[in-house]
Amino acid sequence: MLLPLLLLPWAWGALDASPPVPQESLTLRLLLTSVFHNASSTDMELTALLGNLETHSMDCSTCKIRFLQPWAQLGLTPVEWQDQETVIHHDLSNFIGLVNELVKDEGEGYPFVTQVSTGCELLPNGTSRGFYDVGMNGEDFVSFNVDAGKWVARRGDKLALHIQDILNYNWPAANKLQFLLKTTCVNKAKSFARYGKESLERQERPVAVVFARVPPPAGTPAPVLLVCRVTGFYPRPVRVAWLQDGEEVGPGGRLNSSGILPNADLTYQLRSSLAVGPGAGHSYACRVQHSSLGGRSLLIPWGYSRPWGPGLIVGITLGVVAVAAMAVVLWWSRRRGYQGIGPGDPRV
Ligand SMILES: *[C@@H]1O[C@H](CO)[C@@H](O)[C@H](O)[C@H]1NC(C)=O
Ligand SMILES: *[C@@H]1O[C@H](CO)[C@@H](O)[C@H](O)[C@H]1NC(C)=O
Ligand SMILES: *[C@@H]1O[C@H](CO)[C@@H](O)[C@H](O)[C@H]1NC(C)=O
Repeated sequence: MLLPLLLLPWAWGALDASPPVPQESLTLRLLLTSVFHNASSTDMELTALLGNLETHSMDCSTCKIRFLQPWAQLGLTPVEWQDQETVIHHDLSNFIGLVNELVKDEGEGYPFVTQVSTGCELLPNGTSRGFYDVGMNGEDFVSFNVDAGKWVARRGDKLALHIQDILNYNWPAANKLQFLLKTTCVNKAKSFARYGKESLERQERPVAVVFARVPPPAGTPAPVLLVCRVTGFYPRPVRVAWLQDGEEVGPGGRLNSSGILPNADLTYQLRSSLAVGPGAGHSYACRVQHSSLGGRSLLIPWGYSRPWGPGLIVGITLGVVAVAAMAVVLWWSRRRGYQGIGPGDPRV
């Protein structure tokens, strides 16, 4: 049963050398969302993530740190964690005070939302990248250039430029932030990566299906769109390719991809589509490579509806010939073996 399948051209494609799945970086990230209702009322929520795992959160009605992973409390004693709560609470109060003051100076109106995303990314080549990005009402506002140690406005208006200047004027704080992102954050990310090794290194296998998008109305020569939907995989790096007659389809206008998107259950999904000509006559398959597959790939053919085409008949014929040839070879080698070391042979 398997032999004919092995002889189909697309199956051979899977055995070709193909580029490896890219390596993953690891990001330790703090997200701070603040809703400024008015000068005296602000709601804040702080979340820490390692990769895509939420590790800690803090809701500032109580300002207590919540540990969201069993290993998230490692590294500091309970008293040290309480000290952290105090420090964070203090920093957040300063942040609220500063923002309210700036807003008053600039005559900005309430309510508004600010979002801060800061942390560091450990890259596969052993280097790291720090970041500190601030958004306002859903748009980029100012960012910290970690290498230069300078704040950069991400909007051209007066408020953003003014805040850029104020932040840069406080160069001791900028130097301290540079150190925090280049050194402290990297060390923290490495320790958390050790504590959370098991969660971070878990492997979830992808599930993939191939289907054709609703075909165009009869008579139109429009191409058919084949879609390969891959979901449920973890970690994030994955490689999805289309094979046409066993050959990988190169980059270009025929391919489109959704990019890797998160699922609600901490796995990922991706959709890759291939536009194919209306005149068929080719075999297609979607190939998925992922670390959970132990070096093999998932291969999902499309066009199972015509498996008895000439390709398969030729395949089966070749298969039968191959089996017969193998049987002859085996029979011969056995015969020669018996002759060579049979009973009574002088060499035994
Ligand atoms: C500020 O906003 C909060 C929440 O929306 C509201 O309860 C409070 O009355 C407001 N205070 C002032 C001074 O407007
Ligand atoms: C490490 O990788 C990053 C991103 O992939 C690249 O920008 C950087 O130049 C690399 N650094 C070294 C020293 O190879
Ligand atoms: C790729 O797919 C997206 C939606 O998934 C679509 O908006 C976009 O136009 C497509 N691009 C091409 C070149 O087909």
